[in-house]
Amino acid sequence: MRPPRFYVTTPIYYVNGVPHLGHAYCTIVADVLAGYHRMLGIPTHFVTGTDEHGQKAQLAAEARGIPTQQLVDEYSQVFRDLAARLQVKHDDFIRTTEPRHKHVVARVLDALWKKGDIYLQDYEGWYCVSCERFWNDSEVEAAGGKCPDQPQLHEVQRLREPNYWFRMSKYADELRRRIEADEFRILPEKRKNEILGYIKQGVGDLCISRDRSRMSWGVPLPFDEKYVCYVWVDALFNYETAIGYLADEKLHAKWWPADLHLVGKDILTPHCVYWPTMLLAVGEPLPHRVLGHGWLLDSQGLKVSKSKKPGEADVALPQPKIDSLLAVLGVDVTRWFLATAMKYGDDATIDWDMVLSRVNAELANGLGNSVNRVARMAQQFSGGEFAGLGHAGPKEEKLRDAAHAVVAAVGAVPSTLDVIAVTQAVRAAVDAVSLYLDDEKPWKAAKDPVNLPRVGQVLAWSAETLRLAGTALAPIMRGKTDALRAAFGVRGPLDWSRESKFGFLETGHALGEPPGLFPRIDAAQIPTT
Ligand code: MSP
Repeated sequence: MRPPRFYVTTPIYYVNGVPHLGHAYCTIVADVLAGYHRMLGIPTHFVTGTDEHGQKAQLAAEARGIPTQQLVDEYSQVFRDLAARLQVKHDDFIRTTEPRHKHVVARVLDALWKKGDIYLQDYEGWYCVSCERFWNDSEVEAAGGKCPDQPQLHEVQRLREPNYWFRMSKYADELRRRIEADEFRILPEKRKNEILGYIKQGVGDLCISRDRSRMSWGVPLPFDEKYVCYVWVDALFNYETAIGYLADEKLHAKWWPADLHLVGKDILTPHCVYWPTMLLAVGEPLPHRVLGHGWLLDSQGLKVSKSKKPGEADVALPQPKIDSLLAVLGVDVTRWFLATAMKYGDDATIDWDMVLSRVNAELANGLGNSVNRVARMAQQFSGGEFAGLGHAGPKEEKLRDAAHAVVAAVGAVPSTLDVIAVTQAVRAAVDAVSLYLDDEKPWKAAKDPVNLPRVGQVLAWSAETLRLAGTALAPIMRGKTDALRAAFGVRGPLDWSRESKFGFLETGHALGEPPGLFPRIDAAQIPTT
């Protein structure tokens, strides 16, 4: 068996508009998962990027009267800048208009054509420009004549033209077998069932060409230059291009198959049907897992990307946006909020009330307040030193158990991908420390010097639990975690293999000052527009 390693991807984002919270969500979750793997010492490769071909980009450029390449250059840079503002540490940022990618797409199409897996036939059916997707009659009928994915918002158009088709149907049985055997895992379970249901209804062939006279912004088909490649076929291969497919065998062997494609539930079919059947056709192993997350919704229940402009709706407060979140919360807390915004299977409505109450309860009053209290009391009553753990009674055992549960949750991330479980374990450890302090009341006990050894011990147990629990948040909020570690006198690059040991702090170790980690957020700080 090959040693563990983690190749994780986000979808590549369309560049016909500026990024929104939905994009930021997915990128942050991928970055945080990459961070946990790196912290656990697992070789990790994280790729994100932009999807630059297709009708959407062409139409957006026409609307602005600029060359399409100029438009995609501009917007791709905005996505790259957002990743930097969110302190995302990707290993590669791929753009589908790069020569390295167009080369791969052309080679793949050529191979499939020569193999007989692509053929020419008339197409008549429906097309949604916003989703860049073909839909059949029954799907559109069921959606009341609109786009089946977003019936409230997207119109579909009728198309009739000769087109090239990929023999997707040929690989459907093999795909179903792999999904049922969990060789190709679709998460969470309900998404796997949705895809199996889709396959059982019958998988047709996939239209993979667009007539160049109408839509020219794409990779030309190598066997018929009158057409360009359908944007989804082109886009999915980014996951292979980025790790040197057909270009750098060593790099490719190191990272393929991908361990995780993180995608929104709206793009599950391309990732769980089109993509694996194309990989089967070219003879490549399938990715291990595709995780379909839900949507962040605004107060009207719309995807945040589709939110109405202020004034169009009766909302008391404006919707949180990526810029306003960053301005009010700062980068670390924004990352924490997004990384824990929803359980993978569900959608989540997001508004400022929820942002405020979560940040204030879990961070300001929770972790932040506990760290400040303990650091302050250690300065006051233990001379700023870690007094040593000494003997563990039943109350101390509880703290150690809570800290071990945090370590276990971190260790489980590679299999569960569950970041929220880590934050919940951290919260439980913080609560355990609060209970312990309320019970022991070191601030009272310290009034009698005879109690000072016990006070020192209580603060040591509290400090060690908070240090370990807080350190576990490093992949979510690096800056805050470093400030927290410094409060306990731990500096330099984080070494989880050492710092995850309960008892890492040595007796006499100098503790730092109370760090003031998470100021409370006041409603007055929320922007009004
Ligand atoms: N370009 C395609 C993906 C090609 S991958 C080979 C695409 N781009 S997108 O920009 O429209 O969407 C990218 C991702 O953002 C999708 O996974 C989508 O689910 C996600 N989100 C868009 N709005 C969202 C929310 N409101 N909430 C969470 N994620 C959502 O599709």
